[in-house]
Amino acid sequence: MPVLFDNENKIIHLQGKTVSLCLMCHPEYGLLNLYWGARLEDGNVSYLLDAVYDGASFDPKHTRFPYDEPVRGAGYYQTPSVCAINERGDDVVRLKYESHEIFRGKKALNGLPMVYTESADEATTAVITLKDPLTGLCVQVSYTLMETLDVITRSVNIGNAGCEKLVLTHMMSASMPMYGSDYDVINLSGGWARERYVNRTPLAHASFRVESQRGSSSHEQNPFIALCEKTATEHNGQVWAMSLVYSGSFLASADVNNFSTARMSIGLNPEVCRWNLLPGESFQTPEAVLVYSPDGFNGMSQRFHKTIRTRIVRGYWRDQPRPILINNWEATYFDFNEEKIEKIASKAASLGIELFVLDDGWFGKRNTDNCSLGDWVVNKEKLPGGIKGVCDRVNRMGMAFGLWFEPEMVSPDSDLYRAHPDWCLHAEGRSRTEARQQLILDLSRIEVQDYIIEAVSSVLKSANIAYVKWDMNRNMTEYYSYGREACRQTETQHRYMLGVYRVMETLTNIFPKVLFEGCSGGGGRFDMGMLYYMPQIWTSDDTDPVERLKIQYGTSFVYPASAMGAHVSASPNHQTGRSTSVKMRADVALGGNFGFELDLNTLTDEEIESVRSTVELVKRVRATLQKGTFTRLESPFEGNYAAWQFVSDDGEDVIACAYRKMTMPNPYPKKFFLKDLDEKANYRHAETGNVYTGSALMHAGIVFSGAWGDYQSAVYTFRKIG
Ligand code: DGJ
Repeated sequence: MPVLFDNENKIIHLQGKTVSLCLMCHPEYGLLNLYWGARLEDGNVSYLLDAVYDGASFDPKHTRFPYDEPVRGAGYYQTPSVCAINERGDDVVRLKYESHEIFRGKKALNGLPMVYTESADEATTAVITLKDPLTGLCVQVSYTLMETLDVITRSVNIGNAGCEKLVLTHMMSASMPMYGSDYDVINLSGGWARERYVNRTPLAHASFRVESQRGSSSHEQNPFIALCEKTATEHNGQVWAMSLVYSGSFLASADVNNFSTARMSIGLNPEVCRWNLLPGESFQTPEAVLVYSPDGFNGMSQRFHKTIRTRIVRGYWRDQPRPILINNWEATYFDFNEEKIEKIASKAASLGIELFVLDDGWFGKRNTDNCSLGDWVVNKEKLPGGIKGVCDRVNRMGMAFGLWFEPEMVSPDSDLYRAHPDWCLHAEGRSRTEARQQLILDLSRIEVQDYIIEAVSSVLKSANIAYVKWDMNRNMTEYYSYGREACRQTETQHRYMLGVYRVMETLTNIFPKVLFEGCSGGGGRFDMGMLYYMPQIWTSDDTDPVERLKIQYGTSFVYPASAMGAHVSASPNHQTGRSTSVKMRADVALGGNFGFELDLNTLTDEEIESVRSTVELVKRVRATLQKGTFTRLESPFEGNYAAWQFVSDDGEDVIACAYRKMTMPNPYPKKFFLKDLDEKANYRHAETGNVYTGSALMHAGIVFSGAWGDYQSAVYTFRKIG
C-alpha cells in the first residue's frame, strides 16, 4: 500500500508518485507533521525532530513543534487547527495520540462535497485518532492519498466523547508546518468583474490571511493558497498548495513564527463560525486538497485540474462534450418577449449553436431587478406560451433549452416574502440589509430547502429543460436564523452551506441529465464545493476579452477550462466599453466552455462567418479543450501577450492560443514556445498544412500571426502525424 506505517518509529508515510507526507504518532505530543514535499524512498525522517531546537529560548517546546493539529493553551501562538471552549470557560486542549487505521479507499463526508473515488484501489486513507483526556474532545484526522492523481486530501472529524458541552471556535481542514519561511505566497483575489487575479507576495515575518466572511467563497478571494520557492516559475520549482472543497466563508493563511518557520492553513473562517458540540455529537470539517508540485505552477494546476475534472465533478456531464450555448442576458437584459427570443435563438441555431439559455426576467413581474425572486412562476405577459411554449419552439429549431434561476434569494416585493417574512436570514430587532434589492433565504432551515426543491423541480418538470444556470447575487449580512437557539446562531453560515448542498444534491439526483452551471454575480462562488454539484461555473460577468485573459489565466491556477463558462458578447463591451473584433472575443472564449451572450442578428456578414468558423472549430477540437492537459505559456499579468495550450491525453492533438493586447509600431517578431510535446514527432498545422517537429514548436517557437492593430489573437491547431 502506498500509505505505510513504520512501527518502530511510529511514522505514517503517504508515498505518492511525486509526493511524500510523513506523520509521526508521538506518545507525548500527539500527531507531528514531519515532512511534506518531494517523494521520499523511506519515510523515516524521525531525525528531523532532533533539529527542532530545544535550547534556551523564551518559548516552550510547543511553540516550535511541527504539530499536525495545533491547539491552543500550551505555548502555540498561531491560528490553532482545533480549539474548543469547555464548561469551565478555558480553551486549553491537549491532544494525545490514541490509535490509527490505514485502509484502501476513502469514506464519504456526510453532506459535504469531496474528492470521491470510484473504486477502493484508487486511494489509501490513514485516519489518526487524537483525544483530549480531560474534555473527551476526540479529533479524527483523515489523510487520503489519491494515487493516480498524486494529490492528498485532508479533513477532520471532531467529536465530543466527554460529558460536558464544548464550543468549537476553530475547525481548520488542514494546517501544514513548512520548513523555514523563504517562500513567496500565491493567492487569487479580485472583485466583481475582475475575479481571481494572481498575486505573488514575498512571505514576511507576519501572518498572511486570505479570507471570505461573506457566506460565499467570494469574488474577493478564492479558497486557495500556495507557497513556492522564490525561484519557482510556471514550469519549474517547488510549490505547495491547498484548496478547500467548500463554497462558504473560509480562511487560508500563511503564518511565520519567531523561529522563521511557516505554517499554511485552510478551513472554515473562525470569524464567522462557532459550533456547539454536545456530548455524543460530532462535527465534520470540509475537505482540503493538498498539492505538491515539483514542476512549478503548471504542475500544480495540472494536478488540481485532473482532480477536479475526474474526481470532483460527477454525473452524466462529467465526460460529455459540453454544449455551445447562447444566453440572452446581455442581448436583452429584462426586456424580452417570445418574438425577440425566437429571433435570437433561430439565428444561433443556424450557426450550429446547441443550447439556448433564457436568463433572468422570465418569472413573476420581474422587469427590473427589484422584485419577484422566490416566485418561480412564468410571466405570461412576456411568454404567453409559458416556459413549455418557448422551450418547444427552441427545441424545434434543433437546440436544447436552458433556464436561469436564483433559488437562494427572495425579493421583499414577492409573494414568497409576503407569505414568509421570517424565511430570510436576519437578526431579530435589526433592519434587513438589502443588496441588489434582495434578501437571502435561510437555507439553514429545512422547510426553506424543501420549498426551493419543490419550486425548482416543478418548473424543470414542466418542459424539456436541459440546463439550469443557478445564480446567487449577493453576500450575507445579518446571517442569523429565526427561531434557532441563541447559542447556535453562530452556526448559521455553515448550516446555510449544508442546506445549499442538500438542495443541490437532491435536485441533481432528481434531474441527473440536466446540465447545471453555477453563477454568483459572475464568478463569486467559483470553488470545488460548487463543482461537485455543477460541472461548470460562469467565470465572470466581465466578458471583455482583454479582461478575460487575466480572469481565465488566474482561474486556471486551480480550475480546469471545462469548469469555466466563457462567452462571446457584444462590442463595445458592456463592462468596459472596449471594442474588440469578434475573432479576439471568440479566441479568448474558447479557452473555457464556449458560448455566446449577444444578439447575433446585429453582426455583419463577415463577423457571422467568423462566428460560424469558430463554432465549427470548437466542435472539432472540443474534446481536447475540455479534457486535454492545459498549460499556461505566457502571463497577461506580466506583459502585452498571453498564451496557453491544450494537449489531448494521447498527445495527438495540440491547440495553442496566443493573444496580444496592444499593437506596436515597427514590430519585431513575437514567438511562443509550446511545452511537453514529443521532440521527435511531426505535427501538422491544420490551418496551413505546414509540418513542424515537436522540438521546433518547443524550442524554435511559433511566431505570433495575429493581425494589425490592438487586441489580436491567433489559434493554432496541430495534429501529430508520426
Ligand atoms: C448575474 C449573472 O452573473 C449574470 O450573468 C446574469 O445572469 C444576471 N445575474 C441576471 O440577473
